[in-house]
Amino acid sequence: MNNTQNIIYLNGYYMPVEEATISVMDRGFLFGDGVYEVIPVFGNNMLRLDEHLKRLQNSLNRISLPNPHNNEEWGRIFSDLLKKNDGEDRAVYLQISRGVYPQRDLTIKAGYPATIFAMVLPVAPPDIEIVTAGISVITVDDIRWSACDIKSTSLVASVMLKQQAVAADMEDAILIKNRMLSEGTASNVFIVKNDTLITPPTGHKLLPGITRDLVIEIAKNNTILVEEREVKEAELYSADEIWMTSSTREIAPVISLNGEAVGAGAAGEMWKRVMDLYQQYKQQLRDGS
Ligand code: PDD
Repeated sequence: MNNTQNIIYLNGYYMPVEEATISVMDRGFLFGDGVYEVIPVFGNNMLRLDEHLKRLQNSLNRISLPNPHNNEEWGRIFSDLLKKNDGEDRAVYLQISRGVYPQRDLTIKAGYPATIFAMVLPVAPPDIEIVTAGISVITVDDIRWSACDIKSTSLVASVMLKQQAVAADMEDAILIKNRMLSEGTASNVFIVKNDTLITPPTGHKLLPGITRDLVIEIAKNNTILVEEREVKEAELYSADEIWMTSSTREIAPVISLNGEAVGAGAAGEMWKRVMDLYQQYKQQLRDGS
């Protein structure tokens, strides 16, 4: 196999993506009965692998699916996959579904192996000028279920919400439930008010983002005040800054919300500071230090 191919991992084997097939009876396909992770990789080093595997374990526990591998085995599968594919900055995508049952039946039964699929996603290093220009977003009604802490592959609600943003010619959407901020379609949300970083607490209303936790850690280590508390929808409109964070987006400054400027209508000073610290963290990871 040569490294220019897109090599994926499926149920114990590495193969070109074109050769990978799964059954139409797979419960991931029939029900979205599965969970996933997206782990950023910088210079062959995975960002916070232990934390991603901990969140994976939580997702698996919540859907009563035994973890098919221990952390050491996962680490080996991912590094072998990375070796078989080219690239510097990228991400590992892992998906585990409840496998293939002979009948279409919601009932969980023992004795059927999970379907395990992993691939490498290209992640372009952020063009700082483009990122600094910021993004325009709308607020939408969070129609998702009350188990958003599970990183579930049942993402049709998120697809619908993202489409609302696209239809409004916006880059993304911030989700509001009962007049409170939950998160983005595929990211967590922070506001900055009077030099304090504020983000909703973890729980069933949002995914506990690894980037979210890293941003909080970096901020606290640099004496920036952080509050994890409920955020009212109205607070978004009086915020000095709004950010959206995720493994693939990193920290994106929101410059306009529902057509109104956020703060000064440009990436803020706090964003510049934390983004800079985040890039330093990434560079250390790349250098293996
Ligand atoms: N999404 N909230 C939701 C609903 C998400 O889908 C994600 C990540 C996050 C941020 O989590 P993290 O910082 O660990 O990436 C929050 C990934 C990137 C995705 O679905 O592609």
